[in-house]
Amino acid sequence: MSEPAVLSGPVDLSLGGIGFAGTGSVGTGSGGWAKEVVGGCPRSLTESLAGAVRARGSWQQVADRVADVLRANPPDPGILTPEQRAGDPSGYQTHLLHAEPDGSFSVTVMVWLPGQETPIHDHLAWCVTAVMEGAEQEEIYAVDGGRLRVVARNANPVGAVSAFAPPGDIHLVRNAGTSVAISMHVYGTDISRVGSSVRRVYDPRLIRA
Ligand SMILES: [Fe+2]
Repeated sequence: MSEPAVLSGPVDLSLGGIGFAGTGSVGTGSGGWAKEVVGGCPRSLTESLAGAVRARGSWQQVADRVADVLRANPPDPGILTPEQRAGDPSGYQTHLLHAEPDGSFSVTVMVWLPGQETPIHDHLAWCVTAVMEGAEQEEIYAVDGGRLRVVARNANPVGAVSAFAPPGDIHLVRNAGTSVAISMHVYGTDISRVGSSVRRVYDPRLIRA
């Protein structure tokens, strides 16, 4: 099976110029890096997440356990400040709330205004998302003859939790609603050190009609 062309990667950390400008997807501000931990993640949640990560296993098994933790402890949008919850017209915002000291996982919260979306991308490691406010639409792609084919289009309301583990985690997330959407994203890597959880960004022209 031939791989589709990518706009970055593998493990390309110079994402600023290849479609991320203005998205804020890799930083706490538009186009920046998410290296600064702004805090705000409840200690009880980070301790439960650490327990789920420490139990080890395959990436999918770890992601599934992390997903169970988020279902049992749904995060509240109130962990963000009113300013953070308001979103930013220049692009969706990523706030790094926690980076585990041993580098095993990071917790971010993303804020999306209506219509804002990520590029098509995959990740360096497992990733678990939980919708906290509004609704998000998730598109999942498969590689098909060197191109991308949409295999699922999920509408995720508040409380929906999704777990991804590479390979096969090519996806896009957008706020298809009419109000602000907020979601927690837990990644199996140290965002404060690597700056981004994104492995590759894919050219949307690769999608099969
Ligand atoms: Fe993602």
